[in-house]
Amino acid sequence: MGTKRDITTTLVNEHKLILRMLEVLERNASLTREGKYTDYRFYLDAVDFIRNYADRFHHAKEEDVLFEALVANGMPRQNSPVAAMLLEHDQGRAFVRAMEEAAQAALRGEQGQDNAIAANALGYLELLREHIAKEDDILYPLAERLIPDTLRDGIIAAYNAAEARTPTGFAARYEELVNSCEGKVVDRAA
Ligand SMILES: [Fe+2]
Ligand SMILES: [Fe+2]
Repeated sequence: MGTKRDITTTLVNEHKLILRMLEVLERNASLTREGKYTDYRFYLDAVDFIRNYADRFHHAKEEDVLFEALVANGMPRQNSPVAAMLLEHDQGRAFVRAMEEAAQAALRGEQGQDNAIAANALGYLELLREHIAKEDDILYPLAERLIPDTLRDGIIAAYNAAEARTPTGFAARYEELVNSCEGKVVDRAA
């Protein structure tokens, strides 16, 4: 037997970019809560990143590929770690919708949106940080133990197919967006 093909490092690396965006989100949302940060367009950029990179790109690989492979290899679909992760993906989507609505209202000039923006941003990032920690520390190592070698080429091919469905330069564009958002945090601190 050759060495096992790794099926979770790609996902762990995607988590690293997501965590960088959560760091910026935490910094800006904490200031918004205090009325000290009103660049509401940032929140729409964050929503764009979360929806397209975290949700469509990353969660699609989990939901359509890795979690399905776990279920196919003995993990129950209901009342299981996979069910818990899917529920958290949905809870995250609700925070993001609410953050987007409040940011759009603020951009239309409606007063009093700061608390809603900050509460949903901070709620989302707390949820997602814990979610990512559970995947990195528990679910992914479990997948590496549980999923047989014979299925691994197929899983990697399915990840690649999911990536091929995104526009050219998709991942690079979102990495650039995170760099740019981080740059603005540094500028403001200076
Ligand atoms: Fe997840
Ligand atoms: Fe994940």
